[in-house]
Amino acid sequence: MKKITKICCIGAGYVGGPTMSVIAKQCPEIQVTVVDINQDRIDQWNTDDLDTLPIYEPGLKEIVGERRGKNLFFSTEVDKAIDEAQMIFISVNTPTKTYGKGKGQAADLKFIELCARNIAKVAKDDKIVVEKSTLPVRTAQAIQNILDNTGNAVKFEILSNPEFLAEGTAIEDLIHADRVLIGGNDTPSGQAAKDALSAVYEHWLPKERILQTNVWSSELSKLVANAFLAQRVSSINTISALCEKTDANIQEISRAIGFDSRIGPKFLNASVGFGGSCFQKDILNLVYIARSYGLNEVADYWEQVIIANDYQKSRFAENIISSLYNTISGKKIVIYGWAFKKDTNDTRESAAIAVADALLEERAEIIVYDPKVSEERIYADLDYLNTRSPEENRRLLTVTKEPIEVTKEAHAIAILTEWDEFKTYDWTTIYKQMLKPAFVFDGRRLLDNDTMQEIGFNYYKIGQS
Ligand code: UDX
Ligand code: ADP
Repeated sequence: MKKITKICCIGAGYVGGPTMSVIAKQCPEIQVTVVDINQDRIDQWNTDDLDTLPIYEPGLKEIVGERRGKNLFFSTEVDKAIDEAQMIFISVNTPTKTYGKGKGQAADLKFIELCARNIAKVAKDDKIVVEKSTLPVRTAQAIQNILDNTGNAVKFEILSNPEFLAEGTAIEDLIHADRVLIGGNDTPSGQAAKDALSAVYEHWLPKERILQTNVWSSELSKLVANAFLAQRVSSINTISALCEKTDANIQEISRAIGFDSRIGPKFLNASVGFGGSCFQKDILNLVYIARSYGLNEVADYWEQVIIANDYQKSRFAENIISSLYNTISGKKIVIYGWAFKKDTNDTRESAAIAVADALLEERAEIIVYDPKVSEERIYADLDYLNTRSPEENRRLLTVTKEPIEVTKEAHAIAILTEWDEFKTYDWTTIYKQMLKPAFVFDGRRLLDNDTMQEIGFNYYKIGQS
């Protein structure tokens, strides 16, 4: 089996950065180089001030501080890193296509293809190429074809090694992974490649948690795992709507069903809707694949998970509008939280974007506070929707660093991310300075019902009447 001494990772994003940092930490004898075409991003990874790394993950800056310059490097010299490495991870972005066939559903593989062509051009000896990005099934085959047909007659072995890390707990998820999945060919060289990658993970994970499969199973498992998780959230969220109409309480229901060991207690928190870069994209991919094989019933079934999620977001926004007497034009509404969940600065597909957009459509005056998300990011998210002009977005919505101060004379507060700090606020002070009746719409079930009502708030908690 080939001994791996040098790893190259193409793409220094949410997946590549943390994953490679952990590999470098756990495998001090392996030199890990993360490359990206984006100079700014690489500069940010190389910054002296570890608090300004491009990605915020608990535990990440400590590892980067410990390994960078020793066996962990960030560089824009893509070709050099490819040339030197025995194993190349592809961790570039695979956004949903915004044009042509499969628009709005299929993954855009343009970045992957460019990577594969580049590897083929540069490689002068045999390489193991690992697809790490979330990809539609059968991408490995496409990569293999490009490499075999355009390469310099060297041998490429393609592995699928999907990422299961969740943002905010990425380092923890990598170090204590439930399982690692390695898909590869069943040929002797395919087996050798699988074993080589397995040996990297065996530095810190027990062998029985490293599962080897064929390539297709590995690729599809990633989509199915995310589809199942998202389905749980959508399932509980649909029930939250029913709870609000009856006297049932969603938390009691989650607890009651979660005690059934077959169902289990995790991922049953009702919310304003799931976000993140993976859930929606992966389900759309699954739907697209199913449809492309004529399996329309299968596609419809999974598509419903996304439809239910969109419903949850719009239901939440509509409830704000109707509670504020069907008119929010010019009313000051403070949004607490813009990230798609706590402990991350990532806002991709965040429910906050959809809720804010719906409120802005009604001409509300919105003020956003998020402890980690930048003002530029918030405006970029809104501008991307193209619902109204950038000027209008900036006129109607402002971003603040003063979460308590801004509630002065506000009509309502909407909690859209479950940041812990919101629980520690002095809600009595906030109540006193808001306009009355003072509304709080809690999309994360963060605060205590009785306390909020005793203070005097009109408090709405998702999943509770
Ligand atoms: C997910 C998968 O968990 C991970 O394995 C995969 O590699 C990438 O996609 P991530 O998107 O980082 O990870 O976040 P996750 O913690 O799964 O949460 C996704 C969304 O669901 C968030 O918006 C979260 O707030 C929401 N959620 C989660 C709920 O609303 N309720 C829950 O009970 C759990
Ligand atoms: P993910 O969440 O999948 O990690 P990100 O968007 O955070 O996605 O990161 C992907 C990174 O891949 C970006 O920094 C982007 O610049 C980089 N990238 C895309 N195409 C290439 C390429 N051909 N060569 C090197 N880097 C690339």
